[in-house]
This record gives sequence, structure tokens and C-alpha cells, in this order.
Amino acid sequence: MKILVVGSGGREHALVWKLLQSPRVTKIFCAPGNAGISGLATCLKISATDIEALADFAQTEGVGLTVVGPEVPLSLGIVDYFEEKGLRVFGPRRNAATLEGSKVFMKDLLEKYHIPSAFYATFTDREEALCYVEKQAAPMVVKTDGLAAGKGVVVAQTIAEAKAAVDLFMKEKAFGEAGNRVVVEEFLRGEEASFLAFTDGETVLPLPSSQDHKAIFDGDKGPNTGGMGAYSPAPVVTEALHRQVMETVMLPTVKGLAAEGCPYKGVLYAGLMIDEGVVKVLEFNCRFGDPEAQPLLMRLKTDLVEIMEAVIDDRLAEISLEIDPRPTVCVVMAAGGYPGKYENGKVIQGLAKAGEHKDVVVFHAGTALQGDAVVTNGGRVLGVTAIGETVQEAIAKAYKAAAEISWDGCYYRKDIGRKALDRV
Ligand code: AMP
Ligand code: GLY
Repeated sequence: MKILVVGSGGREHALVWKLLQSPRVTKIFCAPGNAGISGLATCLKISATDIEALADFAQTEGVGLTVVGPEVPLSLGIVDYFEEKGLRVFGPRRNAATLEGSKVFMKDLLEKYHIPSAFYATFTDREEALCYVEKQAAPMVVKTDGLAAGKGVVVAQTIAEAKAAVDLFMKEKAFGEAGNRVVVEEFLRGEEASFLAFTDGETVLPLPSSQDHKAIFDGDKGPNTGGMGAYSPAPVVTEALHRQVMETVMLPTVKGLAAEGCPYKGVLYAGLMIDEGVVKVLEFNCRFGDPEAQPLLMRLKTDLVEIMEAVIDDRLAEISLEIDPRPTVCVVMAAGGYPGKYENGKVIQGLAKAGEHKDVVVFHAGTALQGDAVVTNGGRVLGVTAIGETVQEAIAKAYKAAAEISWDGCYYRKDIGRKALDRV
């Protein structure tokens, strides 16, 4: 079977790498891909949001399964369009992807179905938002309703900061229409975890727990990024908590969406806050996490094509997941300056040497080929991912391989996985 993967990040490299392990796959295409993906798949010069061109390609080439990585094409309705053309595609339809595409939709759904989450209020009027914010206790969290490439969330430490966030979103329109509505939310304390599951709209098949590292600096300091590293499992999600998440979050959300007429098929990703054994939802994503996909897919032994086809055909109940019990850790290597301004085009050294390390895969994110050289082409550049008998061992292997790699301005956190170590 021919497969098309849509996207160009570390998540998509991991998807291509995993899908290639399926005996059913004859060829993989990736649109648009990156330098690392081009070693495994044929990269296409089609943007991840050019839905018509992607569907044309899939039809002409006889692609049997299209796998969509990022949220933007899902929110634009790529799945609906492919289905109309009779093409098989893995991911939620547009109305179900609204769970990530609109925080107001998400919060209202959670409230309606009694799914635990932060207390909130939503606003379309700036004056009303400012008035409300003044009466709240800081810290509080201000969010754009729509997608803002992960930048539409401000954790405001003071009322003044919260008001500035309202103005940034609603007056300055920093994220355009995404800020037409805002959510003001209670600040939740605790430890975050990511919980991802496959679902066909009825059966929910959870992947192991994982944890991202959102902040740019060690010790979770500094501004938030797309994610500076991840590991799986996350010991903060105990067996009892896992059950709690399934019973109070995942199953009721999938049921609720079906009851609302937007059945959800694909990977459902809950961003959770855990405080003293109690779980609350921070956000939902309608796709695999990046970087969580890298450590999760490294642990997944079951054929990913089989899982995805079962989701599409509503027979996920027939599948059980086989998971490698060993922990995995992914260290993200980023361009200096990220998540602010950074330069592209820096030649990356040491990739071949790092690639020789046993139990390590170097997933590419923002990379491109320039002649024979691999150069940086984005903020998050690589995800060095390792598997070990223990989380200590996986951390050590990932950092040892990362140390082989360098470029002008290369930066990575040195404490990925430390929270797991603190708990074992
Ligand atoms: P979101 O995209 O909604 O998950 O927000 C991005 C990040 O902001 C989360 O991963 C948290 O670190 C932080 N955050 C969001 N909402 C809250 C909240 N209600 N309380 C505390 N932190 C939050
Ligand atoms: N790692 C966070 C995300 O994928 O949204």
C-alpha cells in the first residue's frame, strides 16, 4: 500500500519511520517533509494546507492511506474533502477537530458533559473581558479561541498582565480572527501530562502516558515553546490516575462529541493538569503531540497501518496495542533564539555519528538539504530519541547522542526527564 503523510515536523518523521515498519507499506510520500524524512520517503513540494493538491496527488498516485500530522489541515477540513473524493484518510473531520480549533467549543463541551477542567468565562467583547479580568484573582490564564500556533495562551501573573493579553488578542489582533473570542480561565496548579488515545468514535484505545517540556529553559523557566522534549511513560500518571483519565475524560469526551453529531476518529490528545491525584483538562489536541509522538511511536510495537485502518473502518475494538515496556526519551535540539527570532541555514554536523548510537533515532523537524549538507530550517530542529531499560538509561543515551551533534547556535534543555527521575 502507498501512504501519504502530511506535515514536516519531528512528529511526521516519527510517523513515517513507524509506518515503514509495516509489511503492508510499499512506498511512503510526505508533503512537504524535511531532510530526515527524505531519507525514508519521497518528499513532495505540496504544502500541508493545500488540500486540493494533496487529494489530487493521492488520487493520481493511488495512495491507499493518508495520515495527517498537524492541526491546521484537520481544522480546514482535509478529512471531509478526502472522504468526499473516496480517499482513505486518518484523522478527525472538521467538526470534530473543532475540539482543538476552538477553545470556546471545547470548554462548553466539557462543561456540558461534566468533564473536569478549569473554571472559565468566554468573551466576544473586549470591554466585558477587561471588566471581568479586573474582578478575578491573579494568576489567571487568557486564551484565544482559535488556533495561534501555540502562542494564544498567556499565563498572567497579575491583573495588568491579563488585561494586556486581552488587548493583545482583541485590540491588536496579534493572532487575527483567532482572537475574536477569548477564554479567561482559572489558573491550575500541579504537574502536566499528555494522554493520547486512538479512537474510532466509540472504542478508546489509550497509548501510554507521556510528558512534554513546554518551557524553553531548564526547570520549566522562560516562555513556552512547541515542546522541548518528552518522555514516556510519565510516572505522575499512576495506574489509578490512568483509570481516572479514561473514565472522567477520554470516554465521556468521545461520547459527548458523538452525541453532539461530531463523532471523533483519529488520535485524541488530552493535555492534563494533575494535582494531588485529581485530573483536569487543560486542552485537547486533535492529533499526535510533537514531541510526544517521537517517544510514543518508539514504544509502539503494533502495526500502525492496522490501527489506523481499524479506526477508519470502525473496528478499533478488534485491536489491542502492544507496547515496549522500556521507557523512551526525546531531547529536542533547537535553533538559538527560539521561540523568539532565530536564523535558518546553519550546517548541522555529527548527524551520521549520532545515528550510529544503539537504541537511538534522530528524528528531524526543521531541517532541509542544501547540496549534500543538512541545514537548520526551523525553530525546533531535531528530536534525539532513545530507548533504555530504565528512564535514567534512556536519558543518558539520548544526551550522549545529542552531544555528537552541533551547529552554530544549537540549544537544548539539559533536564529532559528529570521529573520522571524524581518519581522513580
Ligand atoms: P493550552 O494550549 O491551552 O494547553 O495551554 C498551553 C500551556 O499553558 C499549557 O500546557 C499549560 O502549561 C499552560 N496553561 C494553560 N491553561 C492553564 C491553566 N488553566 N492553568 C495553568 N496553566 C495553564
Ligand atoms: N507537545 C504539544 C503539542 O503537540 O501540542
